[in-house]
Amino acid sequence: MEKKKTFYITTPIYYPSDKLHIGHSYTTVAADAMARFKRLKGYDVFFLTGTDEHGQKIEEKARAKGVEPQQFVDEIVDGIKKLWKLMDVEYDDFLRTTDERHVQAVQKIFKRLYDQGDIYKGEYSGLYCTPCESFWTETQAPDGVCPDCGRPCHVVKEESYFFRLSKYADRLIEYINTHPDFIQPPSRKNEMLNNFLLPGLEDLSVSRTSFKWGIPVTFDDKHVVYVWLDALSNYITALGYLSDNEELFKKFWPADVHLVGKEIVRFHTIIWPIMLMALDLPLPKQVYGHGWLVLQGGKMSKSKGNVVDPVMLCERYGVDAIRYFLLREIPFGSDGQFSNEALLSRINSDLANDLGNLLSRTVAMIEKYFGGVVPSPVQTEADAELVALAEGLADKVTADMDGMNPSQALSDIWDVIKRCNKYIDETAPWVLAREEANRERLGTVLYNLAETLRIVAVAVSPFMPSTPAKMLAQLGLTDELDWSSIERFGGLKPGTIVHKGEALFARIDTAKELAELEAKTPKAPAAQAKQTRIAKPEIDIEEFSRTELRVATVLTAEPVKKSDKLLHLTVELAPGENRSVVSGIAKYYTAEDMVGKKVILVTNLKPCKMCGVLSEGMILCAADETGKLTIVSPESAVASGSEVR
Ligand code: MSP
Repeated sequence: MEKKKTFYITTPIYYPSDKLHIGHSYTTVAADAMARFKRLKGYDVFFLTGTDEHGQKIEEKARAKGVEPQQFVDEIVDGIKKLWKLMDVEYDDFLRTTDERHVQAVQKIFKRLYDQGDIYKGEYSGLYCTPCESFWTETQAPDGVCPDCGRPCHVVKEESYFFRLSKYADRLIEYINTHPDFIQPPSRKNEMLNNFLLPGLEDLSVSRTSFKWGIPVTFDDKHVVYVWLDALSNYITALGYLSDNEELFKKFWPADVHLVGKEIVRFHTIIWPIMLMALDLPLPKQVYGHGWLVLQGGKMSKSKGNVVDPVMLCERYGVDAIRYFLLREIPFGSDGQFSNEALLSRINSDLANDLGNLLSRTVAMIEKYFGGVVPSPVQTEADAELVALAEGLADKVTADMDGMNPSQALSDIWDVIKRCNKYIDETAPWVLAREEANRERLGTVLYNLAETLRIVAVAVSPFMPSTPAKMLAQLGLTDELDWSSIERFGGLKPGTIVHKGEALFARIDTAKELAELEAKTPKAPAAQAKQTRIAKPEIDIEEFSRTELRVATVLTAEPVKKSDKLLHLTVELAPGENRSVVSGIAKYYTAEDMVGKKVILVTNLKPCKMCGVLSEGMILCAADETGKLTIVSPESAVASGSEVR
């Protein structure tokens, strides 16, 4: 017998959080759709998800709640499993990093890397972002702010084991350059090469001594394994790597795709492949970094408070509608805006109107004109376009999914659905029904609609798991899904008895629903802006007027020696009246960028010296939430020296 092709897909393993939001569900729903699609195509699929339960962050959260970390994570993990069940996520394994099978394998991996000299002991001194569990150098995190999440890092100085990333850097660069599919989409590959690999890799601190909640290093129990080394290993420990039974590992490794959000591509395409190289294992075929679900301009995240609850949405609109929205609305590699308006519009127009009405009209007409019995078709020229489109759908969806493009796959399916609706308008079955002479033509039209709906039902099944059974039941078919049956038009047998059922998707009263939803959707960025406005005590106009602000023109600019943050500028306030100003903008502007710019200068600040250079004023900048600076300039040309008030 021919051996089935295998397909191994993973999601990241989630940090235990009592409220996973709709952004988290996105990765898992996308992976589930891909896994379902491959199963339908006959692959032997292994779909892995799980939880990433160790680390300082979890230890601190558990302490704050007054419980042991293990108890803390146990309670949350149950909730996460329930969410995946609710969202119809059908995984093959759920790995918890606290599972004994994982702990033992990670300890063996760490020891092996140590024994072969790829891990060595030293001292770490640098910055650490606890929420991201990320190490940063001072250059990478200017002003001590985490470049990924914008929250403050803290200084860490402790004995640590280090992993020799530097030893493998050239091999990894070579690998990435010769395997164009390894990092997808391609923009992420350039980002990894240019921002991290080509500037040079430093060895990575891979153990911590300042807290306990982690996998102990077997030969030095003061240390626990760095949480990312622990977490990334899950992709092979779940398959039994270094256990008594490596059968799954032999069958499924290397993974076909690790699906991850774009902010963690760095860990998956630098640390992880180097770990695998050091273990002498093949690398995953692909790491795909999808975009973020954003809400009112910012990444949806619990720390910002702008999260939308997937349970509330699924209970209100049904799981399939939410899965459809997530996978359709957001082009897979890019960020996508979540909005209640967009969600309701997709439900009403795509699901209730385009698909739901098409099915109910088709079944109703077969009942009305043919007593519920699917008629026999006699195809004509006028049917050729619809038939070809329906017959070509399986190949199109396959190509889309092979290219990791679920939103295009759904768009192609909806093209067929929309073509059917147009076909109804063109053929006007209710007019055909008036003349007995048109009976054959009417039968053909209704057959073609029903058959196309059968094809659509199978094609949408990876994305919307419970809709196909409802559609097929109305078409008088069993809910057995067979991909090969939709590669050819005509699989529906004339004589099949249709049964009218409930509407697939209820139409929503948008205005009423929006008002209710708005009340449930947080508006964190606005709330934050408000907070920012009242962050300092109120002052009266008198106090404000003591600050002198003037427009100045930058005449010269040069970097300040021994500082990567400062630029030294000479600015002109009036002809012949120049000032020396030192400004902390070197990370965002080069000296050349600055020459000729009009800026706003605080002119009555007490002069001071910075890195030995005199500064007689301060240039105003806007700082975004990550700390990035943008110079504030007058909106139109104004003379140097003009007062700003
Ligand atoms: N524990 C790490 C992953 C370790 S993998 C070896 C982690 N966990 S997480 O819980 O923070 O994130 C899990 C997944 O959810 C990531 O792929 C992340 O990108 C995704 N998302 C979290 N917020 C998201 C959005 N707002 N939008 C889309 N995906 C988002 O990272």
